[in-house]
Amino acid sequence: MSAHIIDGRQLSHSFRLDYGQRVKQLVENGITPGLAVILVGDNPASQVYVKNKVLACKDIGMHSLMLQFDAGMTQAQLLGEIERLNTDPSIHGILVQLPLPKQIDPQAVIQAISAQKDVDGFHLESAGALMCGAKGYWPCTPHGCLKMLDSIGYDLTGKHAVVVGRSNIVGKPMALMLLQRNATVSICHSQTANLKALTLQADVLVAAVGIRHLITADMVKPGAVVIDVGMNRDDQGKLCGDVDFEGVKQVASFITPVPGGVGPMTITMLLANTLDAAQSILDSQH
Ligand code: GUN
Repeated sequence: MSAHIIDGRQLSHSFRLDYGQRVKQLVENGITPGLAVILVGDNPASQVYVKNKVLACKDIGMHSLMLQFDAGMTQAQLLGEIERLNTDPSIHGILVQLPLPKQIDPQAVIQAISAQKDVDGFHLESAGALMCGAKGYWPCTPHGCLKMLDSIGYDLTGKHAVVVGRSNIVGKPMALMLLQRNATVSICHSQTANLKALTLQADVLVAAVGIRHLITADMVKPGAVVIDVGMNRDDQGKLCGDVDFEGVKQVASFITPVPGGVGPMTITMLLANTLDAAQSILDSQH
């Protein structure tokens, strides 16, 4: 058996066509959706991510602002920039790329962003809303994973979903989203005893740990759906995921590739959140 590939680029393309239409409608109503992206320092991976986010905005006709600061920036300076953007009416979403240099506390920065502009979904108010099933911005990467499951018509009800990874950005929100869809959810992490015993039970396996090729074919139940959130480099410097793609695709029924899987969907969900933020401004005017 060879698994079907869930193509994140193709899926993103179809979502973004629709978002381009939504931008047009908002512009006709006097609002150009705007995203501000802040990068502090010169982390090469972050530079690529940030550039792709800004390009994606431009592609669908959204306004974007890219603010780059050197690695020595103080926390007070960054908070000042956020305060300015919080009250800038041309900006509907604010994203501070993580990680930040060590003199800056990421929690202080995230909480300083207005919850109405928290398109990353990292604010405590957004996290609380997801936890309680209330309306709020969802973190982009796990939301993108969920859209990938939806794209294959997968019904999570009663299924065992195993999430490997417990970060605030992916693992924890992913588990809550799967739970909201009536899956039985297990969260595994670096201290989990006998990881394989758990992954072998997974109908849906989400790998989000940042360890290349951690998930091998012998750890996957035949027919499982495997979502790979990993963004690692192999010995040749090539991008690779947390899943041994070549091996696991022989066992799984569906699998996401790296690159071209979850990555583009993360940016697509960022566009969706920014559109929603702009739409809520329009709605509040009527
Ligand atoms: N660093 C890695 N992933 C993300 C993300 O989704 N948002 C931000 N702001 N930083 C990140």
